[in-house]
Amino acid sequence: MNDTTLLGEVASEELTDFDVQGITDKPMPNAVPGVVIGFVLWLRRFFIKLADLVVPADAVLFERCTGIAQTQIFGALARWEIADLLSKGPMNAKAIAEHVGANEDAVHRILRAACTVGVFKMNGAGEFENNRLSKALISGQATRAKEFAEYFASQSNSKSYLEIDHILKTGADGFEHTNGMDLWDWFDAHPEERETFAQMMMGVTFSEAPMVAKLYPFNEIKRLCDVGGGRGGLISELAIRYPHLECVLFDCEGVIESAKPLLEARNVSDRVETVVGNFYEKIVPGCDAYILKNVMHDWDDGRCITILKKCHEAAKPGDRVLLVEIIVEPNDRANFGSLRDVHVLTVCTGGGYRKYKAPICPSSEVSYPKPPHSFTAQAPIFTVGPTQIA
Ligand SMILES: C[S@@+](CC[C@H](N)C(=O)[O-])C[C@H]1O[C@@H](n2cnc3c(N)ncnc32)[C@H](O)[C@@H]1O
Repeated sequence: MNDTTLLGEVASEELTDFDVQGITDKPMPNAVPGVVIGFVLWLRRFFIKLADLVVPADAVLFERCTGIAQTQIFGALARWEIADLLSKGPMNAKAIAEHVGANEDAVHRILRAACTVGVFKMNGAGEFENNRLSKALISGQATRAKEFAEYFASQSNSKSYLEIDHILKTGADGFEHTNGMDLWDWFDAHPEERETFAQMMMGVTFSEAPMVAKLYPFNEIKRLCDVGGGRGGLISELAIRYPHLECVLFDCEGVIESAKPLLEARNVSDRVETVVGNFYEKIVPGCDAYILKNVMHDWDDGRCITILKKCHEAAKPGDRVLLVEIIVEPNDRANFGSLRDVHVLTVCTGGGYRKYKAPICPSSEVSYPKPPHSFTAQAPIFTVGPTQIA
């Protein structure tokens, strides 16, 4: 395995084991074409709207208002690994409770409720079974839905949503208000939560990476740096699909450490240089493209400009900066990104999803041209020439 380069001083921290279950050196499966996804989502919205027209409004609202219950139900079922247990076959609540050391009555009632929203199913004998959706909660799958459920239900995240009045009143996030520090400092202080978040982010990235890999001409690039690249889900996919690429993975220390087992599992550790650093201070020079996926939405305009300026300082004229983000238009009435936007409003300091046909930072000198490459209507990939970053 290659050595990690350090850019500047970083704190050393205690490291834990990192789970690379289900990760192989094969490319991740190609994504379903964007038009198909778009049509299926449209169809789903259409039928939900249709049902909402006939079901009494108070019943619809009751169901919508129980989102908090669903978050905690799925978080708990993920933590208690109930889907893993049921992969051995149907079980009743008594048997499940005995296996996991829980209360039989509560197990039955919680799983029965989960069945009513389509996750898990109950057979005629009152036994619970996995279905297509609950199978996604089984441990060790590349998409990491289990960790998604655990992250969303975590105390620090759930408490942030309880600050919605503060968020509404001030426009500031709820995470720092309730937890006393911002999300990234929290993860530094709580490595277990950071691990769940990193696993979840890796899963999200594994489902997005094939689209990014396919729809941008990475064959035009020789040396690519993934800035804030997390555990290396994207850069490893690009290294596998583009054998000519020289790759650099740039992130904070704990994250880079956790990336190494993943790069080994994907058999690209000799092709991906790992660099520890802070993108507010210095980004590794010497690459001809810098990609930032799902980074900009974490930060306010001022910090985004600083990060882009650091990319500019690292780049030479003609190099590229590629931003991969979900785009949410101000009046978009049907974009799942709107819920993700509320999530970053709740947990990130000044974060937000940006609109498409306007500069990301209206008050700044940074402007984005119309993207020449789009992989879905919801997630364009922007190219920005460094000369446009003052
Ligand atoms: C939302 S995650 C996105 C990770 C990855 N790009 C992906 O799409 O899976 C944001 C990443 O930015 C990293 N990050 C946050 N602050 C940073 C900093 N000051 N310097 C370098 N990386 C940072 C985090 O560690 C995290 O991996």
